[in-house]
Amino acid sequence: MNNVTVVEHPLVQHKLTLMRDKSRSTKGFRQLLHEIGMLLCYEVTRDLPLQQVEIETPLGAMMAPQIGGKKLVFAPILRAGLGFMDGMLELVPSARVAHIGLYRDPQTLTAVEYYFKAPEDVADRLVIVTDPMLATANSAIAAVERLKERGVTNVRFVCLLAAPEGIANFHGHHPEVPIWTAAIDSHLNEHGYIVPGLGDAGDRMFGTK
Ligand code: PRP
Ligand code: URA
Repeated sequence: MNNVTVVEHPLVQHKLTLMRDKSRSTKGFRQLLHEIGMLLCYEVTRDLPLQQVEIETPLGAMMAPQIGGKKLVFAPILRAGLGFMDGMLELVPSARVAHIGLYRDPQTLTAVEYYFKAPEDVADRLVIVTDPMLATANSAIAAVERLKERGVTNVRFVCLLAAPEGIANFHGHHPEVPIWTAAIDSHLNEHGYIVPGLGDAGDRMFGTK
């Protein structure tokens, strides 16, 4: 599939299987999301540009690589996108965070915005949007639209599970935005849930059902 990377690392696949299991506790689910967040962050930042800087080791001067440019921005879609945040921020502690509050109307499956707060200069930065689930993609499409309204041009999207319908819809609206996911599942059911999926990520993460 164009512009989609499926992260097939064994640790990611193993942890995803544990998360799908309906008997996994809230605590276990949250911990696994944290761990997979780190692993996906490692993958999505794999090609960040490096620049050479001069440093002094105890034995002398050298030119050494470091990540160049402005600090990147993580943009979790609330609530469930927050599940990746601690892990990602452990790997990139200087990143900025933009919060995008959206919920999916259960009848229409459209995304309803209730909060948006991004760094002032977000347009100058790489923005990595996070949400465990790309189902219809209405939430992800709305999140990226909102960022584009603020002038953002450099966006990546990271999720845990994607439905083929969601990927098609997302790239119908934002073809240039690459997706990283741990798996592409079979289809959406009549309620817009990913099958076989893992259920409602936000509810499982926060124990709200
Ligand atoms: C879930 C999920 C995504 C969205 C995906 O959020 O976390 O944000 O649905 O579905 P879509 O691709 O069809 O838009 P939900 O609206 O349940 O909110 P929550 O994260 O607060 O539970
Ligand atoms: N949101 C979820 O949390 N799970 C799905 O399967 C679809 C949307």
